[in-house]
Amino acid sequence: MAIDRASNPRARPTLPLRAAIAECLELVIAGGFSLDRALEQYRPRLGDPREQGFLQECVYGVLRHVFSLRARLADVLERPLRSRETLLECLLLAGIYQLREMACPAHAVVNESVAACQLLDRGWAKGLVNAVLRNTERRGQALQAGADEGPEAQWDHPQWLIGKLAKAWPDDWQALLMAANARPPLSLRVNALRVTRDDYLAQLLAAGIQASGVSAAPQAVVLAQAMPVRELPGFAEGLCSVQDLAAQLAAPLLAPRAGHRVLDACAAPGGKTMHLLELTAGQIDLLALDINDTRLGAIRESVTRLGLACAIRQGDAGDPGSWWDGLPFDRILLDAPCSGSGVIRRHPDIKLHRRPEDLAALAHTQRRLLDQLWPTLAAGGHMLYATCSVLPAENEHLVREFCAAQTDCEVLPIEVSWGRATGHGRQILTGEERMDGFFYSLLRKRSDG
Ligand SMILES: C[S@@+](CC[C@H](N)C(=O)[O-])C[C@H]1O[C@@H](n2cnc3c(N)ncnc32)[C@H](O)[C@@H]1O
Repeated sequence: MAIDRASNPRARPTLPLRAAIAECLELVIAGGFSLDRALEQYRPRLGDPREQGFLQECVYGVLRHVFSLRARLADVLERPLRSRETLLECLLLAGIYQLREMACPAHAVVNESVAACQLLDRGWAKGLVNAVLRNTERRGQALQAGADEGPEAQWDHPQWLIGKLAKAWPDDWQALLMAANARPPLSLRVNALRVTRDDYLAQLLAAGIQASGVSAAPQAVVLAQAMPVRELPGFAEGLCSVQDLAAQLAAPLLAPRAGHRVLDACAAPGGKTMHLLELTAGQIDLLALDINDTRLGAIRESVTRLGLACAIRQGDAGDPGSWWDGLPFDRILLDAPCSGSGVIRRHPDIKLHRRPEDLAALAHTQRRLLDQLWPTLAAGGHMLYATCSVLPAENEHLVREFCAAQTDCEVLPIEVSWGRATGHGRQILTGEERMDGFFYSLLRKRSDG
């Protein structure tokens, strides 16, 4: 399997582009690696930054369109590939994607994919790769599958997820799925402690970078085109951070004030932690907790880059006895682990890795975290429950059941222009106002409970 190749010390240190793409894709599709981890392994194996950019674009694109690409591959294969030929399948899916969506010269795609066969120990498949890609080119068929090819190929999502979304959002599921297949915008959060949004927009303009503000999120800027963040004006000096628009709604909803004790219970990699500190000029007593110590490293880096400070601690939010000092929190942000169904456009590997049976386990964890953290909230305090999911089982249904079991919990209305009220919170569906799919529920602990 590709996993062995990737962790194999004998593996070639550098690779030709098409072979790197096929191996990287196989790590995700057959090896179960996250897209981020697979790219981390393969980017350094391409010397040229342009090739690294091509790898990224192609791998993201293939995963976004993996179901329709498989339908196109089936059209041109005389008989299906053997199931263990995942590496060959990846080489072919990538080739078809390059022909259909990346406007690459056909001769380069065909010749280099055929040449990659040898390197990938698939010399026997040269003729097959040549025939499949030449046929694809000759047919000139669009990538998009029709309804007659089945829902997975038509919507480029797994059937179980299409079914759940169609049931939950009968008027919106098609737009939601199309948005989940589109490239997301690159949005930034301007550091309110260092610069105003208008001043930063002016700096971007002066640097020749097109961008605009967004009314729903006061520190947010959306770039007209993605670019390497290190090239943004003042990025290294902490003038801005990368954060989706919907994620920028959390800190203002929690509305911490100077002197508050605040818990960010599932904090890593720290986007919302930093926003909380920026909005309060660091005048809150903030604990950033996460179960994953490696991911906490990103918070340590961000506080340094942005010149901020907070307590950072590894711990299980569902076991407060192991980290809580017994002093209640005025504000708690529970940005719970979830299916990620609202951020598939940023993490298309979720389509392949998430299984329907994961949802029950996730809901169990989400409920455990709510139950265990609630006693740590002060009377009169606020807890913001958030997920980047568009599935009611992790959102509205979960919070409704939690509230029914409490005597001292009140749902606060979220009166805003974005999203839709669900009863116990507010749901944003992927793509609405250019946002990721997110759910927010704001809970208050009554003192008379
Ligand atoms: C949605 S991410 C949080 C994103 C983060 N709030 C941000 O804005 O950058 C969920 C996080 O929950 C963490 N997590 C999962 N289970 C946890 C638990 N039992 N206790 C604490 N953290 C947990 C994961 O490690 C992951 O970093």
